[in-house]
Amino acid sequence: MNSSNNYIVTQNRVVLDLLSQIEKTSNSDCSVLLIGETGVGKELFAEFIHRTSNRNNFPLVKVALSTLPADLIESELFGHEKGAFTGSMNEKKGLFEASDKGTIFLDDIDDFPLNLQSKLLRVLESKEIKRIGSQNSIPLDIRLITASKLDLQQLVAQEKFRIDLFFRINVLPIVIPPLRDRIDDIPILVDYFLNFYEPEKRIEVSDAVWESLKNYPWPGNVRELRNIIQRIALFANGKITIDNLPSEIRGDSPFKNFMKTCGHCFENKNMKFEQVMVCVEKHLLEHALTSSDGNRTVAARMLGLSLSTFRDKLRRHNIV
Ligand SMILES: Nc1ncnc2c1ncn2[C@@H]1O[C@H](COP(=O)(O)OP(=O)(O)OP(=O)(O)O)[C@@H](O)[C@H]1O
Ligand SMILES: [Mg+2]
Repeated sequence: MNSSNNYIVTQNRVVLDLLSQIEKTSNSDCSVLLIGETGVGKELFAEFIHRTSNRNNFPLVKVALSTLPADLIESELFGHEKGAFTGSMNEKKGLFEASDKGTIFLDDIDDFPLNLQSKLLRVLESKEIKRIGSQNSIPLDIRLITASKLDLQQLVAQEKFRIDLFFRINVLPIVIPPLRDRIDDIPILVDYFLNFYEPEKRIEVSDAVWESLKNYPWPGNVRELRNIIQRIALFANGKITIDNLPSEIRGDSPFKNFMKTCGHCFENKNMKFEQVMVCVEKHLLEHALTSSDGNRTVAARMLGLSLSTFRDKLRRHNIV
């Protein structure tokens, strides 16, 4: 199952605002540029844009530019006549023609070859296309959606992306926030994926698990969350506890979470360096003890200290 019903699950204000902006353009042909990290839902958004538009009875043609060899992109997109170049035994309709009256989704537009960018711009401006090897112009009625993981303005500055093409595709920019910036979506996404993958099981999630899921930075965004929940749900019985989570999400290194408990040491501007260090050391000891359920041998090992040094430090900080 590669997707989850094409349904965008969210309760986040920013994402809901984006969806309502998109719905307002459903009768327009304005180009949309979707920007966001991997796994945030750019393809899902493209499907939503097409589905809610007045073109939804015509095709949505998706083009994964990053997986097309550069020398094939031109003939795939624009098509060619029979004998237009070596190997073109038959005439071929391009993907632009195939999306006529519908929507074309150019994914990973940041990978679009520089030498073809002016041709793409010409097609978009003139709304007509010429197959390679043909003089005939074919009228085109399409809506364009593009997606990029990179900041295209930076590529423009580096002269890897034409500024005129950038303006042409950037009519409605939609910046989809990473999952770590919308952690209010985590509970409903988890519930959704649990129901989606294991509808029979009625799985619960412990409080500690919610905490860890919200603290993890999710570099792979919703795709990573979906895959992890799918895996856990497969083996879970009744309740998901902290032990069911992969270690990177559990965040069980004593150094990783202690910065939070120790935040005030750094924020308190009146503290001298030595005082800050004492405070940091105390919190680190306490954190290791809590994480090891009070077991001093385990706590000392976590901090890379010998048991006797660890005990000395506890005594000095009056930790009993
Ligand atoms: N809000 C959401 N609700 C439900 N499922 C979602 C949501 N966002 C993303 N997903 C799911 O996460 C997966 C990744 O989404 P998608 O392929 O749209 O991301 P992407 O931004 O195109 O990623 P990439 O840049 O790697 O191509 C898909 O299975 C999609 O269905
Ligand atoms: Mg994608």
